Amino acid sequence: MPESITHDGRTLLVLCAVGDVDDDTPVQVNGPGIDYAVFSHEGSFYVTADLCTHGPGSLAEGYVEGCEVECPFHQGKFDFITGLPTSAPCDTPLRIWTPIVVDGQVCIDPDEKRGG
Ligand code: FES
Repeated sequence: MPESITHDGRTLLVLCAVGDVDDDTPVQVNGPGIDYAVFSHEGSFYVTADLCTHGPGSLAEGYVEGCEVECPFHQGKFDFITGLPTSAPCDTPLRIWTPIVVDGQVCIDPDEKRGG
C-alpha cells in the first residue's frame, strides 16, 4: 500500500520513485480503493487510473507509443496526458491526477478530480 506524506499542507500519496518509470514502461500502483498507472513521457510524469474504462484491461500493462497507451484487452487507446480516449472501443475518459515530484518520488493528491 502506498504511503502518504504531507507536502505544502496537502496529504499526498507516494506512488513510486522517479527512477521506477521509463518511457514505454508504465508502472502499476495498487492504491487504496483504486489502482493507478504511472507514465513517463519526454521527461514528465502522468498518472491515470489503471483500469480501462471499457473493461478489465490494465493500462499499465498496455502498449505505449508516444503519449498513447493501447489497452491490452481490446486494443482501445487513450491519451494518458489528457485521459481522453483516442481509439475505439474506448469512449469514456480516464480519471487522471497531477503528479507532484517530492524528494525523487512521484506523488499525487488522491482526492484530485480530473478527467473521467
Ligand atoms: S478493456 Fe480496454 S479496450 Fe476493452
